[in-house]
Amino acid sequence: MSRPTGQDSDTADEAVRGTCDDASVCKRFAVSIGYWKDPYIQYFVRQAKERKAPEINRGYYARVQGVNHLLNAFLKKTECKCQIINLGAGLDTTFWRLKDENILPIKYFEVDFPSIVARKLYNLKFSQPGLHTLLHHRRRPEKREGHGGEAEEIWHGPTVRLPTLLVAECVLVYMTPEQSGSLLKWAACTFPTAMFINYEQVNMADRFGQIMVENLQRRQCNLAGVEACRSLQSQTERLLSNGWESADAWDMIKVYSNLPRADVVRMEKLEFLDEKELLEQLLLHYCISWAAKDSLHLGLAEITF
Ligand SMILES: C[S@@+](CC[C@H](N)C(=O)[O-])C[C@H]1O[C@@H](n2cnc3c(N)ncnc32)[C@H](O)[C@@H]1O
Repeated sequence: MSRPTGQDSDTADEAVRGTCDDASVCKRFAVSIGYWKDPYIQYFVRQAKERKAPEINRGYYARVQGVNHLLNAFLKKTECKCQIINLGAGLDTTFWRLKDENILPIKYFEVDFPSIVARKLYNLKFSQPGLHTLLHHRRRPEKREGHGGEAEEIWHGPTVRLPTLLVAECVLVYMTPEQSGSLLKWAACTFPTAMFINYEQVNMADRFGQIMVENLQRRQCNLAGVEACRSLQSQTERLLSNGWESADAWDMIKVYSNLPRADVVRMEKLEFLDEKELLEQLLLHYCISWAAKDSLHLGLAEITF
């Protein structure tokens, strides 16, 4: 990713790392009210001290259900004979959801700053014994005796042979457009059959978008990639110009209205929503963009809501 391991000490990086707590605290609060089920998030973050507003909870509901929908569709198309690389995974719990639903891919990787990964591993080991038993945490390849008695390296990392899903949930916006462009290009060039799911800000050139940027800047958190978040078109163009064959981008209003109706009706009864316009503004300023490359002709370009 943009900053290689070992350089995670300056204030800007610290603020970016802090966003993983923000996301998980909000997710945990929404889970505690019943927006969706996640029995694992409690092992990684504390319960929020104060209630989160209903529009925030609904926004997280749409984000989590939207990303899950595309991720599940990829697993279905590939019959789980695939790998997932979750970029900037933070304290995400998708791995355990997939395990419980018996739809784990062959390989599953998470990438984040070393301090975040270390903290997650610590929580896994000590808060809930058993959660970590499926995990292998390796920094470098193992050595084994090869033919002729020479040491041979076994690489347990991603393989280019499997269809690959890369997920970036609220991550690319913290990189400059050059950095996220290089990441997208690397992924498209490396994996012949792949899908990229990206959740982040959109329509950021208007007043509401500017206020979002200013609020984050006040907390020392710079949205370095905001330029790529100008519009749905700039989102798809970035994917297509960096080697992806097909791409689409929907704002979260459209995603929300395409989520399974019965569950949305259930969810909307959980809390009274006073600020309908604020929810609409929030949903209008986030999007999911996704892209595919399909050398195995699995039908990845057909994946949609
Ligand atoms: C807003 S949080 C989202 C976490 C998780 N994807 C989720 O949605 O719950 C952004 C995450 O991206 C990680 N991140 C941002 N830039 C990164 C980089 N250059 N290298 C590694 N991780 C990065 C942060 O540390 C943080 O965990």
